[in-house]
Amino acid sequence: MRTAVVTEPYKVEIKEMDKPVIGPKDVLIKVKTAGICGSDLHLFKGTHAFRKPPAVLGHEVAGEVVEIGAEVTGLAIGDRVTVEPQIGCGECEFCRRGLVNLCTNKTVPGTPKWCGTFAEYFAAREDITYKLAEGVSYEVGTLAEPLAVAVHVLRRLDLANKESIAILGSGTIGLLCLMVAKHYGFKHIIATDTVPFNLEMAKKLGAELVINPVKEDAVKLVREFTDGRGVDATIIAAGAPTIIDQASAMTCRRGEMVLVAMITQKFPVDSYSWVFNEQRISGAMTYESRDFQEAMEMINGGMDLSEFVTQRLPMEETQKGLEILDQKTENIVKIIVHP
Ligand SMILES: NC(=O)c1ccc[n+]([C@@H]2O[C@H](COP(=O)([O-])OP(=O)(O)OC[C@H]3O[C@@H](n4cnc5c(N)ncnc54)[C@H](O)[C@@H]3O)[C@@H](O)[C@H]2O)c1
Ligand SMILES: [Zn+2]
Ligand SMILES: [Zn+2]
Repeated sequence: MRTAVVTEPYKVEIKEMDKPVIGPKDVLIKVKTAGICGSDLHLFKGTHAFRKPPAVLGHEVAGEVVEIGAEVTGLAIGDRVTVEPQIGCGECEFCRRGLVNLCTNKTVPGTPKWCGTFAEYFAAREDITYKLAEGVSYEVGTLAEPLAVAVHVLRRLDLANKESIAILGSGTIGLLCLMVAKHYGFKHIIATDTVPFNLEMAKKLGAELVINPVKEDAVKLVREFTDGRGVDATIIAAGAPTIIDQASAMTCRRGEMVLVAMITQKFPVDSYSWVFNEQRISGAMTYESRDFQEAMEMINGGMDLSEFVTQRLPMEETQKGLEILDQKTENIVKIIVHP
């Protein structure tokens, strides 16, 4: 089968590989769509924490079941599916608590144990493979994975009050958080971004106020919008040196912040503001299986994410896709690759 492999930093080659051989509990999926995600960009640039070249790209996927293992009972050949791309060790403290996202020994695609999704075929265990409802396209099915990230972000909030929320960064994750915030009943949603296209998308998807923090005073505008009080919650879905302070300054007393952006540089933060205002800040790392299930319910229930797909490329143009994402030479929310 053909696969897209990062052979060295900044170089993707299409390579022939053996089709995966499935075990009794697995299904073999003919990949129809695979999404390019920020972590693929890290692999491409050689900066990913544990995915190192040479490695097959991808963990976001949708496709058709073409083979089933002997013990598979809930799926059949021809089913249209997507996959939760993580398998915990099943034994550690976190796996026992259902926190597979925090398992220190989990298996993920694009590593020697599990081939990535930028391939003609992808193998997955039945219990992490989800059926797409009729009418849900493969492209939208591919978005289940980043949507699960957003569900997890919102579920990290412990709020009784779901009045107002600010989302800093309106890329794939920020905009999906917006969709989930709407779904959870937040009444007033504010979104920021530095790119006009992303602000337009946020507006179209339901943000009441959109702000470009480079051109406007985001904290002042949010404070004005909330009659000086600040929002109940702020999600940090972009990395910038002062973004955590900005979040704290626009969040109300006893409000909450969730940090989903992977900010790898160290920046000073004004922690006094968290104390003085009794704010809580949480990290959010991928998703628990129940978050993925909830994301599937949203997608299969008709949540329309078709506008999120801004570029479609054949697998041969994966390198181009990664370059577009890296240099932001086009307006992007999600780039989908069709093997
Ligand atoms: N914790 C997790 O499990 C997890 C999962 C996926 C992604 N992430 C991280 O979440 C972040 C967002 O991911 P994404 O895929 O949406 O990335 P993205 O590049 O699509 O989106 C980031 C957006 O932030 C905007 N931006 C840049 N500077 C800004 C600023 N100062 N204020 C407001 N907006 C600004 C960009 O224009 C862009 O639209 C990344 O850091 C990514 O690594 C974390
Ligand atoms: Zn992803
Ligand atoms: Zn574990």
